[in-house]
Parts: sequence; structure tokens; C-alpha cells
Amino acid sequence: MNIAVFASGRGSNFQSILHACTTGFIPARVSVLISNRADAGAHELARRAGVPSFHISRQQYANESQYIQSLLTVLREHESNVIALAGYVKKVPIEIIAQYRNKILNIHPALLPLFGGPGMYGRHVHNAVLASGMKVSGATVHFVDEEYDHGPILLQQCVPVERGDTPDTLAARVLNVEHTIYPKALKALVENRVVFDGTKAWIVE
Ligand code: GRF
Repeated sequence: MNIAVFASGRGSNFQSILHACTTGFIPARVSVLISNRADAGAHELARRAGVPSFHISRQQYANESQYIQSLLTVLREHESNVIALAGYVKKVPIEIIAQYRNKILNIHPALLPLFGGPGMYGRHVHNAVLASGMKVSGATVHFVDEEYDHGPILLQQCVPVERGDTPDTLAARVLNVEHTIYPKALKALVENRVVFDGTKAWIVE
């Protein structure tokens, strides 16, 4: 099995997925990294790991269909079976969602369905959690559908919100958990241990 990772930023989740593949925890390999940003830190991590990486963004193409074709070509050429969005800030085109139905996962740094949706990324999420007064936050791995942060939830883990937390301290606590649950969720998907029950997804042993 081949995993394509889409990342826009520093790439710590990409790194944890890579590590889980190289150690054999996930029985798959990361075949390609795709980023909408040329300066994403994830490119450098990919280069060091010998994973081919591509900068593909809508602005490079005359129209939407050429852009989508380019994404699909890279996915096909790297024989991607599964896509992991790891801090990817762009919406995945619906044509790709249709071709990879129930094969695209995303990680979100809060407990969905709370604190998700358009505009809820990065510090905005942690600011909103702190403003709410909630005493727990966490990370969510979910399948990607046509709506932001909306597809079936696959795995979640809580962290406490502590007195005196700032968006940065909370983000760091959540990130730690992200690095644990994303590899677990991908392992289950790759090992065909995900079952759908209506609109709900479950991991089975
Ligand atoms: C993570 O917090 C992830 O949940 C969110 O974006 C951040 C990406 O961090 N979607 P990194 O680039 O994986 O370090």
C-alpha cells in the first residue's frame, strides 16, 4: 500500500507518518508528498527521507481542470492508495474525493464536530477552545468528504485544558496526541480494519 501525504506546513504529522511506515508500524510506505506551498517545511523532510515531493497549487494552472489533472497524475504515478492530509490548508477538489472515496483521512487539532469548519485551523482552533471554557480538547482523525472537517470520525483522543494555557501550550499538548493517533488510524485503514456503519466509521481488531 502507498500513502500520499498532503501537507502545507512544517510537517510534523508527515514526519510521524513516515516514521510509522519505516518502522513497520503501518504496513505501507509514503510514496509521495504534495504541498500547495513551495516553502513548506515538509518538502525538506521528504527530501531527507528520499520521498518524492511536489509543489502543486491552483495558481500554477490556467484552469481548475488542469490543476486537478496534475494532482491526479502525481497520485497515479506514485500508485497512491490512500491520502493523508497532514496540516493541508486547501480544500481537496471533489473529483479527487470521488476517486478516493473513504480513502482520504484528515487530522484536526480539536474534538470534532466542535471547533471545525471553514476558518477553524491553526491557532484559531485553540483560541476558540480556550474562549469556550471547555476543560478538554484533543485531536480527531476523520474521513474527508466534500465539506470541511465533516466526514466520518475514525479516531479521537482527549487532552486536558489547563489553567493558564495559551494557544501555544494547548497546541503542543494536542500535537503530541496527533502524532499518536494519526499513525494508528492510518494503520487501521491500510490493514482494512475500518468498518462503516451508516455514516459512522469504526476501527475493528
Ligand atoms: C496540526 O495541528 C494538524 O492538526 C493541523 O495542522 C497542524 C499541522 O502541523 N491540521 P504539522 O505541519 O503536521 O506539524
